[in-house]
Amino acid sequence: MQRKRLFNVEGDDSLINRKMIKGNVTNLFNLNNVKYQWANKLYRLMMENFWIPEKVSLFDDKRAYDELTPAEQNAYDGILSFLVFLDSIQTNNLPNISDYITAPEVNLILAIQTYQEAVHSQSYAYIIESIIPAEKRAYIYDRWRDDKILLERNKYIAEIYQDFVDERNDKNFARVLIANYLLEGVYFYNGFNFFYNLSSRSLMVGTADEIKYINRDELTHCVIFANIIKEIRAENSTFFSEDEIYEMFAKAVEQEINWSNHIIGDQVLGITPETIEKYTKFIANKRLKDIGMKPMYEGFDENPYAHLEKISDTNGEGNVKGNFFEANVSSYNQSTAVEGWDEI
Ligand SMILES: [Fe+2]
Ligand SMILES: [Fe+2]
Repeated sequence: MQRKRLFNVEGDDSLINRKMIKGNVTNLFNLNNVKYQWANKLYRLMMENFWIPEKVSLFDDKRAYDELTPAEQNAYDGILSFLVFLDSIQTNNLPNISDYITAPEVNLILAIQTYQEAVHSQSYAYIIESIIPAEKRAYIYDRWRDDKILLERNKYIAEIYQDFVDERNDKNFARVLIANYLLEGVYFYNGFNFFYNLSSRSLMVGTADEIKYINRDELTHCVIFANIIKEIRAENSTFFSEDEIYEMFAKAVEQEINWSNHIIGDQVLGITPETIEKYTKFIANKRLKDIGMKPMYEGFDENPYAHLEKISDTNGEGNVKGNFFEANVSSYNQSTAVEGWDEI
């Protein structure tokens, strides 16, 4: 693939010739000249979602942490270790993707996404510093060094990203886009629900509030990648191999279930190996439907954690394009109120 020029004097910014990849734009940003309107809407929503981690008080969580069971503490710490990895690699890798996207309106929202991933890293540092005892803090960042299941997950995603950095061809780019979609759309959510589960029992409520902000951002990131994938599929029907998408989904689901069983296990009230499997396959089916593909797990149509939606404030997480954006997401906005928000 050809990396786009920083300023392309041969470029043509007309909407009729604009393409998601392999287009020929000047790379000037003109928000009044936008082909992909969903990107414009997401831009505004993401800007309205501005938040500052330290505005959430974690004072009560410090004491509540000491009252968690050993299994809950282990899950709390381990999920943070995975989240630290996910947001780090996103911040590092998103510019590599943007270099090959030839829709300036989409490059702009990828830039905002990158800064939001940085804020997420800031929030983990704040949570770890405020809640985790000093002697355990470094281990949150280093756990992958001796937790083989965590290392395997981290390496799997990192290798897909690295392959494209090393060899910039269509196949590797297609895999990077799907991997991003899986990361933003599947990998976070068993972890998020663990925090909502604690919060539903009045435990670690401040942490759950932080996670709500992160969750809200991740859902917009999920929509970005769903839309990028859909547009490319519409413009070039052979760019993605459906078999490969299904294979990657199957692997992601398997890893997510293994990891969640490993780190949460069956000792946390409200979460069992069965709910983990049900939830992971349910969310994977949703994500497949959102990019116009058939679900792959028959009978997994229900969210076993639906009762946690009132905590997460996302009103039907999984239904990214519907309920989430129609819901009252401004209820925990730190910036000015969101104005009317249409379905993307
Ligand atoms: Fe993030
Ligand atoms: Fe993200």
